[in-house]
Amino acid sequence: LSTTEVDISAIEAGQAIKASFRKQPLFVRHLTQAEIDEANAVQVSSLRDPQTLAERTKEGKAQWLVTLGVCTHLGCVPLGAGEGEAKGDFGGYFCPCHGSHYDTAARIRKGPAPSNLAVPDYQFTSDTVIVVG
Ligand code: FES
Repeated sequence: LSTTEVDISAIEAGQAIKASFRKQPLFVRHLTQAEIDEANAVQVSSLRDPQTLAERTKEGKAQWLVTLGVCTHLGCVPLGAGEGEAKGDFGGYFCPCHGSHYDTAARIRKGPAPSNLAVPDYQFTSDTVIVVG
């Protein structure tokens, strides 16, 4: 299976980009400290799909959130990565198909999606490059 290399050096804090991985959309988000704090302030046990931000990011790199851009409801591409797009009620991603709202850790918070946006296997090969897959 193929891997995808993504140069993340130009992604500023507060921005998310859309790339592609094995023909699926891939979101890479550079979280601000406020977004990290917001994710960490959530009571994990209250979540539909309970996961901490730390479980969804690499150690020492909590500011880099890498997920598939595929809504876990019926597979639409949520908004929130790329310029000028809506982020929903919880500051992360919003799926307009049936109204699923994801938070700053891309965890499902409201709407019909059953689980968080999936985190693919990936590695940092330097401070500014990740290899997905
Ligand atoms: Fe996203 Fe239904 S596909 S809410």
